[in-house]
Amino acid sequence: MSKVYFVSLLSIALGAVVFAYYLTLPVQTANVSVSLKPEDKSVILLGKNIYAQNCASCHGIKLEGQKDWMSRLPNGMMPAPPHDVTGHTWHHSDNYLFLITKYGVEEILGEKYPNNMPAYKDILTDDEIISALSYIKSTWPSKTKKIHDKINLRSNKK
Ligand code: HEC
Repeated sequence: MSKVYFVSLLSIALGAVVFAYYLTLPVQTANVSVSLKPEDKSVILLGKNIYAQNCASCHGIKLEGQKDWMSRLPNGMMPAPPHDVTGHTWHHSDNYLFLITKYGVEEILGEKYPNNMPAYKDILTDDEIISALSYIKSTWPSKTKKIHDKINLRSNKK
């Protein structure tokens, strides 16, 4: 075997290993930079519809979440949390909320965690996900929106 041939085979093999490793990385390392638009009327209007059709059955039409959302269900899973200020949606950055909605909780945690939150990557477009989340943010009091803006700034610096 010629040296050149051997070296190119070796680099193909190395490339395959690197690629395989890349596939195992959790999605959170994907370079997303999402900004919700809670002040944009047309985005909110679209988002309200998308929320009503896709999210309200679990998270509540008034974003109130499921009953006793902090207690595990008999099957060990958690009920859907509210998206209003009584929940913890506003504790998370735009990017995190987007990734959870697109890929589901397990994919973002990078570990096994059975739960009832569907992944929307094959159901909604990125813009539809962003508009549903923008609608959610638009319902928060302005004080909460401001705190959430700061959470975004902090998470983008990391
Ligand atoms: C079939 C029920 C169901 C539907 C429909 C659903 N969710 Fe969820 N969602 C859940 C559950 C249950 C959790 C909590 C998962 C856990 O931590 O165990 C959750 C968690 C979340 C979280 C994380 C909240 C936090 O504070 O960590 C976000 C964000 C979210 N959902 C957004 C959405 C959006 C946006 C939609 C609609 C596009 C949607 N969900 C539709 C059940 C649902």
